[in-house]
Amino acid sequence: MKKLLSVLTTIILIIYNSGCTQLDEKTVAEITTAAGNAAAVITAAETALQTTNDMVQSKERTEKTSAPLQFDFERKSVMLNSGYEMPILGLGMFSLSDSEAENSTYWALKHGFRLIDTARIYGNEEAVGRGIKRAIDEGYVTRGEIFITTKMWTSDYSDGAAAIDASLSRLGLDYIDLMILHHSQPSNDVDAYKAMEQAVRDGKLRSIGLSNYYEPEDFDRVVNATTIKPALLQNETHPYHQSGLMKEHIAQYGTVFESWFPLGGRGNTQTLFNDETISSIASAHKKSSAQVILRWHLQAGQIAIPGSSNEQHIIEDYDIWDFELSDEEMRSMSALETDERFSWY
Ligand SMILES: NC(=O)c1ccc[n+]([C@@H]2O[C@H](COP(=O)([O-])OP(=O)(O)OC[C@H]3O[C@@H](n4cnc5c(N)ncnc54)[C@H](OP(=O)(O)O)[C@@H]3O)[C@@H](O)[C@H]2O)c1
Repeated sequence: MKKLLSVLTTIILIIYNSGCTQLDEKTVAEITTAAGNAAAVITAAETALQTTNDMVQSKERTEKTSAPLQFDFERKSVMLNSGYEMPILGLGMFSLSDSEAENSTYWALKHGFRLIDTARIYGNEEAVGRGIKRAIDEGYVTRGEIFITTKMWTSDYSDGAAAIDASLSRLGLDYIDLMILHHSQPSNDVDAYKAMEQAVRDGKLRSIGLSNYYEPEDFDRVVNATTIKPALLQNETHPYHQSGLMKEHIAQYGTVFESWFPLGGRGNTQTLFNDETISSIASAHKKSSAQVILRWHLQAGQIAIPGSSNEQHIIEDYDIWDFELSDEEMRSMSALETDERFSWY
């Protein structure tokens, strides 16, 4: 556009100089000045446009990297930053005895769950392994269809490689889908994370992540000292403690969020189940409070791993795919945030 104006001005000057026009000197000067002004306006507009484009691109980049990972409700899964697909609803094994853990794992896989969450410190990895074997042997699932998470306990951080081999052996698996460090421990959690990175290279672990990191700086301490971005962060999260800060922080790494104590934890569930907002949404959908809370986790972009040793509860907890919370119901649930944790760590 600037070039066009400059060419036009030149032509007018040539015509004027050649005497083929009636334009006087003053008019030509006015045209030239106007063209110059127009060019200046266009330059300013172009600069503004470039700045706007840069801002839009930058915003798009930010949105792209900070957008929460999308949950696929058809496949009931999310694609992790490791490239592996992870179910968004699983069953947790905390505080279950051996027989409870074996049965709950078996019932969970039989009734639709594909994700099981255990930990070395729960002392039931072997029992979980037996439950998995039963479900596979009876034809309910194949190894490839299920996703097993375990956690490395803090006292094992000084020899992470041995801890990984021991978990593999107790679970009776030749690879673990996801291993996470159970707690932040600045003295040696980076060493433990590096051991998990090596195990990924060795094919023993597929994805790795963290649990119980509640400050962005603490999470970044590990991220900045290691190579593989955590695929997942598992922290206490439920309607009274919604973990907004950490959820927002980890999005930049493509890290997915997972809620432990999704129902408030053993001994606390009635507090949430009887919450007026939750129970009235439940009756509107003809669902239980537990189902509404679990559905809320998923729609809020948090993987949920309720714990249960009761087959009927396990069936109920998996039956949350046939209803959806409205935007208004999601807003009412969000408003329940009190920053109240049920656990001390
Ligand atoms: N990373 C960590 O530090 C950490 C810490 C704690 C937990 N976790 C993980 O998160 C998982 C979940 O936490 P959690 O098990 O402690 O607590 P939770 O899932 O919040 O609550 C479990 C309680 O909910 C009850 N329940 C489950 N489904 C129910 C239903 N449909 N109706 C009524 N009651 C129901 C269970 O009782 P029944 O057995 O009778 O069904 C149990 O008492 C754990 O199992 C573990 O895998 C991780």
